[in-house]
Amino acid sequence: MTDRYAVIGNPVAHSKSPLIHATFARQTHQDLRYEAILALPGGFITTVETFRQQGGKGMNITVPFKLEAYQFANELTERARVARAVNTFKFENDKILGDNTDGAGLIRDITANLNFPVTNKCVLLMGAGGASRGVILPLLQQQPAMLAIANRTPQKALDLQQQFAVYGQINAGGYMDFAGEHFDIVINATAASLSDDLPELPDSIFAAEALAYDMMYSNKPTRFLQYAAQHGVPHLADGIGMLVEQAAESFYLWRGVRPDTRAVMAQLKNSRNRL
Ligand code: ATR
Repeated sequence: MTDRYAVIGNPVAHSKSPLIHATFARQTHQDLRYEAILALPGGFITTVETFRQQGGKGMNITVPFKLEAYQFANELTERARVARAVNTFKFENDKILGDNTDGAGLIRDITANLNFPVTNKCVLLMGAGGASRGVILPLLQQQPAMLAIANRTPQKALDLQQQFAVYGQINAGGYMDFAGEHFDIVINATAASLSDDLPELPDSIFAAEALAYDMMYSNKPTRFLQYAAQHGVPHLADGIGMLVEQAAESFYLWRGVRPDTRAVMAQLKNSRNRL
């Protein structure tokens, strides 16, 4: 019988996950179906339960339900527990395993696809919301020379610094607190790109051979990537690679097979270039 999986979110109609997982399934000869399911506000748990009772094997969870998914899971991986957010469910009998593959997806995109080591590099993470929280532990595990978190509301960055102190040292503050520092990797995990906005950054934030990485993606370069290009940053990337890699991590959790992400990544980038 064909195994069923789904992405649940609101909105969800434009999710690229069904295309990505269908491509993975074809490539690895896995017999599965993957659909997009819209949940209404307040309807997350009922929608998940219905899918599970129909025999669903797993789900991806996207905006705005990652926190609810974290609370609903009855077992958590360490990375989901630390992120306090779940983007993947795996259902097994009564077990609802909650995992978070976002951070692993980001690291894999940066280190494997973009060929940019994080180890011994100075990394600046912009933003202190859920998107940032999800990637801090995986970043620290790469043992950067320095991890800094800057946020418009500095206190939220300081709170993260304290909460993650057991996992490693973090420098935290407002953006201007990092004036004079140069970072090899600057990751935008703020929601600013959504509203075509950008926090004010100190000049000289980018080291000479820096990578500017926006966790968001859209059909045109985000404000952050435009800013980085104007400041001579040679390596620019948006979140398409992270999207595909987090999907591959989920697929691996469900099926025990690691798909090759290059083909689907090229396909997504091509279709964007044609717009
Ligand atoms: P999420 O949990 O989805 O990441 P969030 O908790 O609202 O969303 O966090 C969004 C992040 O983007 C925060 O770091 C926020 O900064 P504040 O904590 O100061 O609100 C940041 N952010 C959103 N819009 C921004 C903007 N226009 N300029 C700078 N930072 C912005």
